[in-house]
Amino acid sequence: MCGIVGYVGPRPVLPILIEGLRKLEYRGYDSAGVALISGGELDLRRSAGKLSKLEDVIALKPFPANVSHYGMGHTRWATHGRPTEENAHPHRDCKGRIVVVHNGIIENYLELKRELIAEGHKFVTETDTEVVAHLLEKESRGDGLLAATRRALKRLRGLFALVLLSADDPDQIIAVRNGPPVVAGIGDGEYFIASDVPAILAHTRDVVFLNDEEVAIITPTGARFEDFNGVEHKRDTQRITWDPVMAEKAGYKHFMLKEIHEQPWAVRETVLGRASAETGRVYLSEMALDEAALREIDRVIILACGTSWHSGLVGKFLIEELARLPVEVDYGSEYRYRDPIADKNTLAIVITQSGETADTLAALREAKSKGAKSIAICNVVGSMATREADGTVYTHAGPEIGVASTKAFTTQLVALQLLAVHLAQARGTIKTERAKALLDGLDLLPVLIENALKVDAHIQEIAKRFSPCSDFLYLGRGINYPIALEGALKLKEISYIHAEGYPAGEMKHGPIALIDENMPVVALVPNDLVFEKMIGNIQEAKARGGSVIVVTTTSKKDALGDVLGHKDELIVVPDTDPLLTPVLMVVPLQLLSYHIALRRGCDVDQPRNLAKSVTVE
Ligand code: AGP
Repeated sequence: MCGIVGYVGPRPVLPILIEGLRKLEYRGYDSAGVALISGGELDLRRSAGKLSKLEDVIALKPFPANVSHYGMGHTRWATHGRPTEENAHPHRDCKGRIVVVHNGIIENYLELKRELIAEGHKFVTETDTEVVAHLLEKESRGDGLLAATRRALKRLRGLFALVLLSADDPDQIIAVRNGPPVVAGIGDGEYFIASDVPAILAHTRDVVFLNDEEVAIITPTGARFEDFNGVEHKRDTQRITWDPVMAEKAGYKHFMLKEIHEQPWAVRETVLGRASAETGRVYLSEMALDEAALREIDRVIILACGTSWHSGLVGKFLIEELARLPVEVDYGSEYRYRDPIADKNTLAIVITQSGETADTLAALREAKSKGAKSIAICNVVGSMATREADGTVYTHAGPEIGVASTKAFTTQLVALQLLAVHLAQARGTIKTERAKALLDGLDLLPVLIENALKVDAHIQEIAKRFSPCSDFLYLGRGINYPIALEGALKLKEISYIHAEGYPAGEMKHGPIALIDENMPVVALVPNDLVFEKMIGNIQEAKARGGSVIVVTTTSKKDALGDVLGHKDELIVVPDTDPLLTPVLMVVPLQLLSYHIALRRGCDVDQPRNLAKSVTVE
């Protein structure tokens, strides 16, 4: 989604803004702009397209050399209005004295726009954001931008992060959080505002994540915080411990490739200190719900979107099998628009890498309003989901920059494996020996993922052969059926190839009609209970002329060799416990999508139309 950077301090502001926006490119955007105040005048440059276009615009019409020491920048992911220069942020009021950038949506913008137009305000863009600039102009009564902001906030509805400047109220930036994330960076005599930490990490590691309905006021002398009514908040800074280098490509061609290769490390970090293979016990310290509370639960609902929803489907298999609890999995965007059944004995598990996905947060609130207990599985410390859920199981994947989720997904699977064992222990549905075997398997996973990554060279060959195809079918059964969905999603997200994931047994009820010699079928066939059934499905696909790309585990390699023909491909990953196989089966699918997208010349890290965290409904 959109990205925001703001700066107040002694250094020239422009390079800080451009560099910060570049660090936020991964979030997805289609236009960009910056606004500076110098010599009491507001000056801005904007452009459709990527940041390089904005730099061209600035080169053609430079700002007065290095005179401004405060300003803000924005990358926009279009919602209201096309991605044009006019619609790019920042936006101004009629007099060009107040300027605003915005993430999220102002829901009542049409109503406000009508009112402001009737009062004589002139609108020049199609955006909802512009109403904020005009509303601030209307609410300006000579008592400063902050006072006008407090009044304007009473009129705005929706979920929004705002950053505001006024040429009449110098040396001050105001940031507002009402939903989408905002972080204030506290440097040495300089202060920053951003929508996400990577934008400012080169300058400071000391940050304050704004709470919902909170305002930050940053000036050359400090940062203050208050609520929407002007009541001051005392906020402590938090130190970001991850290395800025983790948000760099570290020699890899793309963030996605780097993040695929970080999975052994990320999985190890997620398991570390939480599982004892010797005793068979799991320790989830931030979970907040004690064993007595867990014993009261009689059903589980898992709420998530996209890739996180796929890990939720795997979670259903894990929790039902180990903890013997019925599990329902729903999309965040669907759950809130029905009248779902939940009560105090329901456990709602929300899964979200970013912790900021609007649909998932809305579903969490819906479940909580019905009395459900809640846990967030999340990768971002201090994000909304972690603040709103009763407890959290953090994935320790480090920052994920590639829009296509990889290491966040595998660590979500591991968090669910830990949680399922923990629930099962609390409910007395798992034997200690079984728990020990699973935790032993989790300890070994990082090494097995490293082995799975060795298929890379073979996958590159497969990608060369199949990258011209326009449709793919992914099949799996049981706990690996969600991995078929995830493989298909990865491919379509970054290569723009049409791909469908299906439970293999469903193929004969419709999708088999699509199979011909031009449609490769990716089949997930580990050593498990449904191995023979998958072989049957492979035969059905081959009988219709389809080429099959099979992912299996070592112990079934030979058996598959007898089934496959010269047109088919066999990818082998290590064996593990059947409940842990999804973590290994997904690795070749991530690599396959990556290499196909690369061959097709796609923008792997920032695929078209997509955003990293979807903070609008
Ligand atoms: C993953 O590759 C996708 N880009 C997307 O489906 C993502 O998983 C989804 O938007 C949910 O995001 P979250 O985990 O941050 O809530």
